[in-house]
Amino acid sequence: MSAAASSRGGGGLEELTLGHGLRLEDLVDRDALQEVCKSFFALFGIPVRIYAQDGALLADAVQDQAVCQYVQSLREGRAACGATVSAVKSADPGAALEATHPCFTGAVYRIIGIDYDGRRLGRVIVGPFLPADLKEMPRSLLAVDPAIDPVKAKELLPKMPRVRPETVTRIGRHLQSVLDLILFSGHRALLTSQMHLASVKESYRELQEQNSKLSESYERLKELDRLKSNFLATVSHELRTPLTSILGYSEMLAEGIGGELQGEQLEFVQTIREKGEQLLALIKSLLDQSKLESGTMSFKMANVALGEVLDQVGSTLLPSAKKKGVLLEIAVAPRLPTIRGDAERLRQIFLNLAENAVKFTPTGGSVRLIAATDSSGSEPEDDVGYVLFASRPTSVIVRVEDAGIGIPEAERAKVFDAFYQVDGSSTREHGGTGLGLSIVKRLVEMHGGTITVDQNREQRTPVVDAQGRRMPGAVFTVRFPLS
Ligand SMILES: Nc1ncnc2c1ncn2[C@@H]1O[C@H](COP(=O)(O)OP(=O)(O)OP(=O)(O)O)[C@@H](O)[C@H]1O
Ligand SMILES: [Mg+2]
Repeated sequence: MSAAASSRGGGGLEELTLGHGLRLEDLVDRDALQEVCKSFFALFGIPVRIYAQDGALLADAVQDQAVCQYVQSLREGRAACGATVSAVKSADPGAALEATHPCFTGAVYRIIGIDYDGRRLGRVIVGPFLPADLKEMPRSLLAVDPAIDPVKAKELLPKMPRVRPETVTRIGRHLQSVLDLILFSGHRALLTSQMHLASVKESYRELQEQNSKLSESYERLKELDRLKSNFLATVSHELRTPLTSILGYSEMLAEGIGGELQGEQLEFVQTIREKGEQLLALIKSLLDQSKLESGTMSFKMANVALGEVLDQVGSTLLPSAKKKGVLLEIAVAPRLPTIRGDAERLRQIFLNLAENAVKFTPTGGSVRLIAATDSSGSEPEDDVGYVLFASRPTSVIVRVEDAGIGIPEAERAKVFDAFYQVDGSSTREHGGTGLGLSIVKRLVEMHGGTITVDQNREQRTPVVDAQGRRMPGAVFTVRFPLS
């Protein structure tokens, strides 16, 4: 087609998309071609067909000519007609883009090539029509079949549209420029969608690359984490044995088994014991942490009365709470159902929480351990929707409330991370390693429970700090679902 259309295609982009397999039907919508055929036929009354390069009919607007119908009703006439039609269909318009093919009836077909960007994409066949200069009925029509009736043939032939060759050439050019325009816009749409596709493919490829890098790093980190846990487990284990001796001997020394100790000597030995015990607690935490991480911690499951667990925690902590001047209260609801769990691990959970509560509460404050049932999510109703009985408890809740420094909202999720401490400075006031809550959370989850933390808004006797500000307090809520 025209040079203008091909230059409008836009050099570099064509390279990207116009492969050798480009087809007319990829560039142009069939409905658009059908519209072109229809309007052409309505304007000039000449049949028109558009074929793809492989010979498939893409669109047409035709009307059977009376003389053709008549010839086709005769045996030999039908064969001759078929031969003409297939010759027309395969006729090559050549580089000139236009060719004319005659029919034995005297009519002709005009074949116009559809080229785009220097490639042949298909052809348009216009006709049959009678050339305006045809004066007489040609002999070839009468010779086509022995049964042909010359009178009828003569009567039907002039019903075919009669056009001057120059007019057909003009019409052909018009058709070419219309198709050119359609091809150009189709090409543009195709380019746009292919570019879009290419950019989506590129982003997808980039994403996949990032993904595989990420999963590689993840695997590496997992491996490092595993190595770290193994290292911690081994080191802690190896530290525990000599430490047991240190503790044992310092205890014997303090008890005077190795001879009576005097004033400061006794004090020093007791300090060695205290610090040794702190070290042992830390080593135990590290061992628990690595067992929880590797999934090798074992649990002795039984029906556990949480009231007893909390009482044991209370008596363990009472001396240090008293020493600090913090009041320790325990309130357990009557007939609290037992839960399935490991009594020792449950004790560890609440001892850790209560230790924190006492540690972060100043003198004069109080710490409360409260256990009760909760019925949310269970409301037995009769058929008409009235609640008939007290709701069945769905979980047991233990709250550890304190009147201490509290945990700022932004820190509440982080305190359950291993080694995380709100005050991570080396000059911090309170001791510890930041492992307690991470172990607590995992242990609670191993029991099918959940743990959350909030500000303690229900303090009965709040403590005020040196500036007269009320301590926010913290409350840790542990919920164990009842089955
Ligand atoms: N009751 C609480 N009140 C205020 N802050 C708390 C309370 N409990 C925990 N925290 C904050 O969460 C941090 C993590 O607690 P966690 O028990 O894990 O570690 P730790 O008590 O510092 O050390 P460890 O328990 O290992 O001896 C604490 O350092 C503290 O900043
Ligand atoms: Mg702690």
